[in-house]
Amino acid sequence: MKIDGKAWRSIWVQPDGWSVGIIDQTKLPHAFVTARLASAAEASHAIKSMMVRGAPLIGATAAYGLCIALRDDASDSSLNAAYEFLLAARPTAINLRWALDEMRTALLPLAPSARVQAAYAAAQKICDDDVAICENIGRHGLKLIQAAQKTTAREVNILTHCNAGWLATVDWGTALAPIYMAHDSGVKLHVWVDETRPRNQGAALTAWELGKHGVPHTIIADNAGGHLMQHRRVDMCIVGTDRTTARGDVCNKIGTYLKALAAQDNGVPFYVALPSTTIDWTIEDGVASIPIEERAPEELTRITGRTLNGDLCEVDIAAPGSPAGNYAFDVTPARLVSGLITERGICAASRDSMRALFPERA
Ligand code: MRU
Repeated sequence: MKIDGKAWRSIWVQPDGWSVGIIDQTKLPHAFVTARLASAAEASHAIKSMMVRGAPLIGATAAYGLCIALRDDASDSSLNAAYEFLLAARPTAINLRWALDEMRTALLPLAPSARVQAAYAAAQKICDDDVAICENIGRHGLKLIQAAQKTTAREVNILTHCNAGWLATVDWGTALAPIYMAHDSGVKLHVWVDETRPRNQGAALTAWELGKHGVPHTIIADNAGGHLMQHRRVDMCIVGTDRTTARGDVCNKIGTYLKALAAQDNGVPFYVALPSTTIDWTIEDGVASIPIEERAPEELTRITGRTLNGDLCEVDIAAPGSPAGNYAFDVTPARLVSGLITERGICAASRDSMRALFPERA
């Protein structure tokens, strides 16, 4: 995607040919700052601290972290140690494990002397494939938005939660890819952007992305969605996912479940856009099986922002001494999901429909 006319991906190999460049997402929207990752430890830190975040981008960053680790030592034990180390960075998004599995499966059969070059090629392929996958998600989701346009005289209003845009993937995004394509093809639309407490990925990242692309949008408090749906001001919801089970339960940023409940109560279609790399085919029941990340309470009790004189500043917003629980994800059961928008097309959130689209998983 373009920022001020220049095309960017969210991750790239630096001109030195081995270290990795990222956009430091903790600085957005106040400053556009890039960072260089030159060790597996820095890659892990970038994932943990959410300099990079979003399921597909976490996977891509871990893949490059493995490449960098192998430059020091490409033995089996080093490969396995880097795999375990990077896997521990965040627990919920399955793309992290998927990308590391892809890398290890490709590299272990090779002689150690051949591994570094092969690792960079494999990581590059993970990134290029992600771009192609997200573009296809966009093409399929576009049809839903075009169909919605035919049913309304006004603009199509889409509600999204968290950031499932190009910053969360390598390019395009998942939930936002259909929105970008619809906007580019002339569909009149408007996006309701959930602020997405506590880290505000909606207000800080989604709104920034949409603004840079010229897509009309409005930031809303997380709790406003139900009210807007009751007043027929939402035509559809499109969100991303960090892990989708084999029967279509969807784990995404905390608060997604409540939006799906409100959508069902109001007859608003609730779509989830995902690359198939986000499907965990080994589990069925998302509530019982998906580990939900719990992050530092300070993410809830403190907030960073820009003061009126332009300085960045961190302030406490909670009653001093009160404990805070920071659950980062929740699970939306498949019965609340109207459809899964994948790179192969749109299917019902059900075991049979998913397997029909991905028969190699049957
Ligand atoms: O904690 P985050 O910001 O990594 O959570 C990201 C999300 O929940 C996204 O919606 C999800 O990864 C889908 S990204 C294409």
